[in-house]
Amino acid sequence: MTKNKDVAILILAAGKGTRLKSSLAKVLHAAGGRPLVEHVMRASVPLGLKKIVVVVGHQAEKVQEIVEPFGAETVLQQPQHGTGHAMLVARRALGNAKFVVVLPGDAPLVRTETLRALIQKHKKGQAVATILTAVLADPSGYGRILRKGGDAVAAIIEESQLTAEQQELNEINSSVYCFTTAKLWPALAQVKPNNKHREIYLTDAIGAMNAKGESVLAEVAQDSREMLGCNTRADLASVDHTFREWKRDALMRDGVTIQFPETVLVDPDVIVGEDTVIEPCVQLLGKTKIGARCVVKTGSVVHNSMLGDEVVVEPHCVISESRVDSEAVMGPFARIRPDSHVKSRARIGNFVELKKSVVGEGSKVPHLSYIGDTKIGNKSNIGAGTITCNYDGFHKYPTTIGNKVFIGSDSALVAPLKVGDGAYVAAGSTITENVPADALGIARGRQTNKPGWASKKRRELATEKPKKSKKRRP
Ligand code: UD1
Ligand code: MG
Repeated sequence: MTKNKDVAILILAAGKGTRLKSSLAKVLHAAGGRPLVEHVMRASVPLGLKKIVVVVGHQAEKVQEIVEPFGAETVLQQPQHGTGHAMLVARRALGNAKFVVVLPGDAPLVRTETLRALIQKHKKGQAVATILTAVLADPSGYGRILRKGGDAVAAIIEESQLTAEQQELNEINSSVYCFTTAKLWPALAQVKPNNKHREIYLTDAIGAMNAKGESVLAEVAQDSREMLGCNTRADLASVDHTFREWKRDALMRDGVTIQFPETVLVDPDVIVGEDTVIEPCVQLLGKTKIGARCVVKTGSVVHNSMLGDEVVVEPHCVISESRVDSEAVMGPFARIRPDSHVKSRARIGNFVELKKSVVGEGSKVPHLSYIGDTKIGNKSNIGAGTITCNYDGFHKYPTTIGNKVFIGSDSALVAPLKVGDGAYVAAGSTITENVPADALGIARGRQTNKPGWASKKRRELATEKPKKSKKRRP
């Protein structure tokens, strides 16, 4: 889009965020699965404007790491003397842009479409400033819009400077503005740090423009949630809530069933196929991709993983950085650690932990196992309680189990180890040497039964004098 090449974007992201009481700068805090400032960047980039400048200060390098990959230029504001001061610091970087859209780095719900409409309104309205506003039931914490009739604005009054009468005002300044730069700089030059923080408030430039007889307009956002800023932990929680709701709504529109949606947390990059059912209290995180007709049951957490079609994840599984192919069944209570691959129709049962392991097609690890650094072929059965002993305190060693292998219950497979195709391992074995194909590996103490031993023992015990039990003191 070349239409708005005379418009630059300025994102204010230098503040500390004192009200969060945190060692992390405010715009680095996450909501909706991303740092606040990244959301603002992502809303800005599709506008295709002249340039995007980000004012950085607190933890500048970390903020730069987020915004620079999106093509933003950064300007350092050090120290931070307020939102108006941040504008002045960025003036040179904005170059000769005729218009500038200003966005606070702490209001991450704003959408590209809303910004596009703001630019259009500003250009059409021939104003020197156009402000996005919202009408809130509880406007506390925000600067308020003082109108002078119609769309025209007289001033923005910061909360701490509201008179008793102005307490009634419930239209808030979102801090998203479009300015005509030629009119902005002279107005800002007049602004004095007349407040208890001794800061230069950008909001005071609005009053200064109005006093000069310039036209300032305000546009009420259709969805007031888009305008919400994050100054406190409670603000972060409510913004996160909105992001999550939007993501779930998008998935449901795409044909995903979500039960008790408000309990389900899905990160923004997650993809889910049609007719998949997500049960209550599920988390789908990172770059997870889930196929069609799957069921992810209650309490499961899937992180950066790929699930094929028709996979069933029984309740309370944790699947991380792994791949699960179609029609596999997982859990309940399975833990799949990174770099694992469960192939089609395999079955991972309850209380099974996989780490960096492959389970072949149709193979089963149904109960109570630890399988680490292991490759299991197709159609093998790993008995209950089987443990791969992959670590000697210094190094990790691999285990390879072929196709159609049967490992008896409660076996310990001491790696490095190979069990050939079609082999059996007898239950309760501690296997330390390779088992060739089609062989039986058995490694356990031989059983002897001693006839009558138990009844004799009982008779002996019955004739023993019972010891005097010590009385407990009260
Ligand atoms: C600001 C507005 C208020 C508006 C609210 C909307 C001012 C004076 N007030 O208040 O009218 O209702 O946003 O959310 O502008 N920043 C800098 N450098 C600074 C100070 C701040 O880059 O010196 C950045 C912050 O990192 C933040 C943004 O500017 O991303 C807004 O600053 P913040 O302190 O959150 O302002 P609010 O008190 O929310
Ligand atoms: Mg704020």
